[in-house]
Amino acid sequence: MNPKIWLSSPHMGQQEFAFVKEAFDTNWIAPLGPLVNGFENDLELFTGSKYAAALSSGTAALHLALVMLDIKMGDEVICQTLTFSASANPIAYLGAIPIFIDSEPETWNMCPDLLETAIKDRILKGKKPKAIIVVHIYGMPAKIEEIVAIGDKYGIPIIEDAAEALGSTVNGRSVGTFGLMSILSFNGNKIITTSGGGALISDDEKFICQARFLATQARDAAVHYQHSQIGYNYRMSNVCAAIGRGQMQVLPERIKQRRRVYEYYLENLSEIPCVDFLPEPDGSFSNRWLTAVLIDSSKGNGVNRETIRLSLEKDNIESRPLWKPMHLQPVFKDYPSYINGISEPLFNNGLCLPSGSNLKDEDLKRVVDIIKKHF
Ligand SMILES: Cc1ncc(COP(=O)(O)O)c(C=O)c1O
Repeated sequence: MNPKIWLSSPHMGQQEFAFVKEAFDTNWIAPLGPLVNGFENDLELFTGSKYAAALSSGTAALHLALVMLDIKMGDEVICQTLTFSASANPIAYLGAIPIFIDSEPETWNMCPDLLETAIKDRILKGKKPKAIIVVHIYGMPAKIEEIVAIGDKYGIPIIEDAAEALGSTVNGRSVGTFGLMSILSFNGNKIITTSGGGALISDDEKFICQARFLATQARDAAVHYQHSQIGYNYRMSNVCAAIGRGQMQVLPERIKQRRRVYEYYLENLSEIPCVDFLPEPDGSFSNRWLTAVLIDSSKGNGVNRETIRLSLEKDNIESRPLWKPMHLQPVFKDYPSYINGISEPLFNNGLCLPSGSNLKDEDLKRVVDIIKKHF
């Protein structure tokens, strides 16, 4: 059996161990400490966001963002349909109603025109949505400037789900700095990892202070344990932040490496007529967290994304269909959705190829050779 090629596996640099040793040497083995503060500072410097709170996951960050926007039972929250379920689950945690919006073809993210149609329709039906969750899927920036303009026009706050897009920019500005608040993820499969972790970033200090407060069980300023509101145990541990500080040192290199993986596939597969790539629109820069291709089975002797996925699997290579849209998920299918027919064929024809920054040329060649054999 050939060695396993993962879709996206952790890729440590040189300094993570030294930072973890510092946590042990100083006995800061807690969900707070100097490395958490240092990691937050690293994130602020890298993204250009004024404030960051390091948390236990990206999902926790999104949950807190919605809590701070006072989302309650029965409120409506707009969410991109083509995404991972973690973008929508926190809406359900609060008993609120997700309203799903389909994609546009240039970035595969939320379609601004459909967003505006949906907002107008929800208002007509008697309820203005209380927030918009837009995702930068696979690292590709959404049409965020247009979406923010629509949010401003209707007075609806934007939360960016930049879980997959640390390092991506629009006109030189980091994604995650356009919305009122944004979330990042450092899960094991992300461009950098803290093994598990996330962050909330914002230019508004009050949200970040409040997030830190809520994430540590909402403990009031009193020597005894006193609580005036419901809290959560969502803070990042100092040990995880130690890994994160090491990873931040190699993030620029990781972005280059992921983009090189994309270029490799593009150079070696684009001559196949039924294989399509997602180019960056003008002004957009993607961290290329995952390279996804579309396989048009009508152009290529019936070969589809599943044929290719299975033959990669046979050779011990992990690949994965695109996210199944939320409006097609059994758990979310009965919620309102505004659909233009873009995301469903993306799901049917799209395949994420191994994209880790630690892949060697020989690994990429193995993937390419198997795909080419089908044509
Ligand atoms: C688009 C998206 N949103 C949210 C999350 C949730 O992040 P986490 O796994 O850190 O909770 C992830 C990744 O897992 C994601 O891919």
